[in-house]
Amino acid sequence: MSSYEQLATDAVAQIEGAGDLDTLEALRPALLGKKAPVSLAKKDLGSLEPDQRKDAGQAINAARQRIESTFTARHADLASAARAVALEAERLDLTEFQAAPHAGHLHLITQSRDRLEDVFIGMGYTVAEGPEVETAWYNFEALNIPEWHPARGSFDTIFVNLGEPEEVMLRSHTSPVQIRTMETQEPPIYIIAPGRTFRTDTADATHLPAFNQLEGLVIDKGITMGDLAGTIDEFVRTFFGAEVKTRLRPSFFPFTEPSAEFDISLPDGSWLELGGCGMVHPNVLRNCGIDPEIWQGFAFGFGIDRLAVMRYRLDDIRELVNNDVRFLRQF
Ligand code: DAH
Repeated sequence: MSSYEQLATDAVAQIEGAGDLDTLEALRPALLGKKAPVSLAKKDLGSLEPDQRKDAGQAINAARQRIESTFTARHADLASAARAVALEAERLDLTEFQAAPHAGHLHLITQSRDRLEDVFIGMGYTVAEGPEVETAWYNFEALNIPEWHPARGSFDTIFVNLGEPEEVMLRSHTSPVQIRTMETQEPPIYIIAPGRTFRTDTADATHLPAFNQLEGLVIDKGITMGDLAGTIDEFVRTFFGAEVKTRLRPSFFPFTEPSAEFDISLPDGSWLELGGCGMVHPNVLRNCGIDPEIWQGFAFGFGIDRLAVMRYRLDDIRELVNNDVRFLRQF
């Protein structure tokens, strides 16, 4: 074996012995660099006779090629082994995502409230909020329901044992948000106030002691009963469908004058009561520091849970709070 072949055989042994890419790369200068034996060997050629030069040159090239091709092959093997190790280390087990068919969804009441908010936001309203624990001023007095007024009794109020007797209570309707809004915002006002309300009612197929209402309030110049009727009609058609009609029936509420109840038409031609409404009473405007000679407005309120019962034709309003997943999953 020529010394050049021996040189290549030694180099190949070193290359094969490198166990990882870093070790292999560290060998490169000594085996293939400018000062590597196969590189320096070329300088020997000058001292040889011309007829020997050719053979020696070929032997050097052959040695270099063998070293180079071994190096390249080894590099490829080590790189693919390193890639396999990295891939294994980064492997993620995604099977649990395939095995999760039951993603949750919003409760039917929340869905209904969101849809109602969307309808009114589309009409230019904003959403207002108020506390669930109220004082007699907001829940009654400012709404033109003085202490002696028989309407107070009809609210079946749940009182909280704080302060003077019957001074603090769980709000029995969302109408107090009307007062809080008019106290803090300058007209024109276009708001809705969805929220939880409470009464001493015993739960049955059509009543819940804790239920949800949606209040509406508009205060602007030149507002008439026609605006109220048109607004209710528009909202009912958007929520229930274009074929559903509305009507107003005269009624009484202390905080509106005139007052009405509004009904929606059912497919069989009968009417179903949805809520109350009317033109905001001048006393209520004055209680909030708004001049009734300049500003007028209308208000309305209805139960969100009852609306959901109608729209989804539920048999019993209590289904909404029983939290039976077999019921809830249907919506
Ligand atoms: N607050 C009334 C209730 O709970 C509903 C109501 C009637 C609200 C007339 C209004 C209204 O804003 O104008 O029974």
